[in-house]
Amino acid sequence: MLQDELIFLKERVFKELQGLSTLEELEVFDTHILGRKGEFTMLAKEIASVPVSEKPILGQIINEIKKTLSAAFEEKKKNLSPRENNSPLDVTMPGAEQYIGHLHPITYAIEEIEDIFKRLGFVRARYNEIEWDYYAFEALNMPADHPARDEWETFFISEKAVGLQGRILLTPHTSSGQVREMRKYSNEGLPVRMLNIAKTYRRQIDISHLPMFHQFEGLVVDTAASMAELVGVLDYFVKEFFSRDRRIRLRPYHFRFTEPSFEVDISCTLCSGKGCAYCKDGWTELGGAGMVHPNVLSAGGYDPAEYTGFAFGFGVERTYLMKNNLNIGDLRLLYTNDIRFLEQF
Ligand code: DAH
Repeated sequence: MLQDELIFLKERVFKELQGLSTLEELEVFDTHILGRKGEFTMLAKEIASVPVSEKPILGQIINEIKKTLSAAFEEKKKNLSPRENNSPLDVTMPGAEQYIGHLHPITYAIEEIEDIFKRLGFVRARYNEIEWDYYAFEALNMPADHPARDEWETFFISEKAVGLQGRILLTPHTSSGQVREMRKYSNEGLPVRMLNIAKTYRRQIDISHLPMFHQFEGLVVDTAASMAELVGVLDYFVKEFFSRDRRIRLRPYHFRFTEPSFEVDISCTLCSGKGCAYCKDGWTELGGAGMVHPNVLSAGGYDPAEYTGFAFGFGVERTYLMKNNLNIGDLRLLYTNDIRFLEQF
């Protein structure tokens, strides 16, 4: 009987469906059963030859079976489609892109600066960010209440002197390391060739000032340290860090801890030396330099009649900003920690 044959086919299809393991197999089997010339389709057509009285019932059965089979095929298709099955592992899913970060641009700048001076024999030193007044000012020829101290806009930590070395402060410049470094070597009369790179702090914030910034400080003490060597060192640095065609300008200045002293300017990269909101007149200050003052040599334990020294201290952020074609118009951007900004470097 047709009805039995249909039910028999249905059972068989269900069994065979279970054995299928790929979508391709399923598709072939689907066509083979429900397709235009499929087994089920052909069998269902035989309804034409059954007695009229049986047709309505048989028609209903055929429709039911067709629905059940279609649903079974659909279900199987879902199970075989990796995207829709419930397995926790979907090997076809696009991978989540891993975000790869990098060091902060100022860290890169510090590494580069250290590397350049290393080639000239400078050795990296590190000193505390929290310092005594003595090393930041007094030992650098700026006695208590000297007006020159005002320039350093210092954050003091203690209100009164703590011990013999004065108040405690956040070091406002890397020059605080000068006398500390000299005292490490002066007992044995050894020369000094220090590069101190550290965080420094001042009460100032605007387009070209930050309350926390970095400085790098060079200090050479020897029996024949000269101004000529100082200029040579600065020139080498500028040519290596920027490019051969960038120019520096030495401008006479006054620092208590060097004599003579000058400030070092570089032609502005933002406006190519024409003058802009950042630099104003086409030049921008990188830092100060000079020949170490005899009083500072004495404080470090060297006899100024026998030893000479030169020193320089530059802001890392300001120096970095002047890199060719960098075009960062505001120092503060460096520390907003905006990933969209930092990603560019
Ligand atoms: N410490 C000075 C400042 O922060 C910069 C400086 C000037 C450093 C002259 C030096 C120097 O070593 O010789 O403004």
